[in-house]
Amino acid sequence: MNDKALYYASGNEVELFEHSFRQRLPVMLTGPTGCGKTRFVEHMGGLLGRPVVTVGCHDDLTSSDLVGRFMVSGGDVVWLDGPLTKAVRDGAICYLDEVVEARHDSLAVLHSLTDHRRTLYLDRAGEVVPAPASFMLVCSYNPAYRSSLKELKPSFRQRFVTLPLGYLPPEREADVLVAETGVDRAVAERLVACAVSIRTADDVFHFEPPSTRVLVTAALLVVAGSSEIDAAEASILAPLSTDGAITGGLREVAAATLLAADEPNIRPEPKETR
Ligand SMILES: Nc1ncnc2c1ncn2[C@@H]1O[C@H](COP(=O)(O)OP(=O)(O)O)[C@@H](O)[C@H]1O
Ligand SMILES: [Mg+2]
Repeated sequence: MNDKALYYASGNEVELFEHSFRQRLPVMLTGPTGCGKTRFVEHMGGLLGRPVVTVGCHDDLTSSDLVGRFMVSGGDVVWLDGPLTKAVRDGAICYLDEVVEARHDSLAVLHSLTDHRRTLYLDRAGEVVPAPASFMLVCSYNPAYRSSLKELKPSFRQRFVTLPLGYLPPEREADVLVAETGVDRAVAERLVACAVSIRTADDVFHFEPPSTRVLVTAALLVVAGSSEIDAAEASILAPLSTDGAITGGLREVAAATLLAADEPNIRPEPKETR
């Protein structure tokens, strides 16, 4: 993604992120999958002129994966910086995606970076790396995602300025679809209405609600020539559950918002993708 990563703000998160950067405070982004967290960090990196180093967290991630390790190279043992250490040295934005997936002991190395010390201690290498003013730590997680039963410690959460991100209001979300895919405005609005109807349905708590990401995917299919119903089925409805057990009610609600699109005369012509 380049400097111009297009991002539509849902509130005052751009301002708060900038203020946090200026005050050298770490930021925690929360929000559902596909609501724009990664895009937001890329956008802010461009705005602040800082590179973004992204680390996707998982439960095998060790602190060495973050800070680095000794490696044998040509008969010598050399220290190799991990992505976190590199980001600290370069004064970059280090983005730990889905930080809740990492084990608590792997995250302990972040403590000295997220308080007044702003310093990384490479115990094994015997090195102390103070963070330059332009270094920023940003983490994200999805608080609604309960399947892993993982939680961040409250003491860890309190080290961060927390910016909750959510889905954009329908008008703006349609703007995103048009900007990302070149889809017709009316189609974008119907796809968004379809997602909104599912997000606000009673039984949605069984599912991770459809994200902006799946709407972008649906719009791309429509632009390529799929009907809106097919595109919505394949990208919005089908991913909601793995056993195909989407309740009839939910499917009906979603289909109703697209009914107008069933008229063949308003089915869009295929368009070229950017
Ligand atoms: N606020 C937004 N502004 C612009 N594009 C967005 C926004 N939210 C979501 N998108 C679109 O949805 C896609 C998924 O967003 P992403 O940032 O990867 O979500 P997350 O990191 O929260 O899972 C992006 O690639 C972009 O096309
Ligand atoms: Mg992401």
